[in-house]
Amino acid sequence: MANIIGAVTTSHIPAIANAMANKAEETPYWKPFFDGYPPVRKWLNEKKPDVIVLFYNDHGLEFFIDKKPTFAIGVADEYHNSDEGWGIATIPPVTGESELSWHIANSLVEDGFDMTICQEMKVDHGLTVPLSLMWPGNDYGHVKVIPVCINCEQHPMPQPKRCYALGQAIGKAIESFDSDMTVAIFGTGGLSHQLDGEAAGTLNRKFDLECMDKLVTNPEELTKYSNLDLVKIGGAQTVELNMWIAMRGVLRGKVTELHRNYHAPISNTGAGLLLLEHEMPK
Ligand code: DHB
Ligand code: FE
Repeated sequence: MANIIGAVTTSHIPAIANAMANKAEETPYWKPFFDGYPPVRKWLNEKKPDVIVLFYNDHGLEFFIDKKPTFAIGVADEYHNSDEGWGIATIPPVTGESELSWHIANSLVEDGFDMTICQEMKVDHGLTVPLSLMWPGNDYGHVKVIPVCINCEQHPMPQPKRCYALGQAIGKAIESFDSDMTVAIFGTGGLSHQLDGEAAGTLNRKFDLECMDKLVTNPEELTKYSNLDLVKIGGAQTVELNMWIAMRGVLRGKVTELHRNYHAPISNTGAGLLLLEHEMPK
């Protein structure tokens, strides 16, 4: 049985990678954001998970609005980042873990989650920025990553309760994999934000902090929201909270918060960071 050792949630805004490339972490704008990360990096460097199952959303790179899987999983040995049109720096490829990926894909389809299974998949900032953040210098090549992509861009989108159930089914799949490998779960994106339209710049700090509390102690309560509720409460892209909810579905038993940070606005976003561990029921 593969061992799920804990979970991390983080924002994935592209400007984070630019700030790191330009060594702007200590500037007044970025410092309150980057100051949150050393404890999470330390945890990852100590625990050394073999695999990261990473919930993210594709912002139009691999899946544009003409073809939009509700849920997709990568089963490749390697994933490449591509320029999304803004001159993003070339970064190293991301290492995959195809055997566990296929195991999860099979288990999910058996459990009623009709995944799009991707043997090739370009990945965007939603997946790469969290890795660059956790392993500065883009030193993430040793970690195997399983991308799980949730549609958060084009309605109709899967609802929070379905994303939570997806996480639970992924937890079950990982636990049924015959291996002693260690797995950490990443939920990326969020929290409240709206980047476009008349309401651009909308965010909701109070809601973000409540979400972070509920993610630890009472995640079921978050599954009562609809995506439309999230849009009204925090702006159109608040639906990215679904990746955090899916992450939380993977964890079982007593969940402990080891670390958190919250800073807003950063690139028009409520940027939250959580490090969680769980105690599996015997
Ligand atoms: C931005 C992009 C994102 O995908 C996101 O979740 C938040 C902000 C941006 O371009 O600033
Ligand atoms: Fe995003």
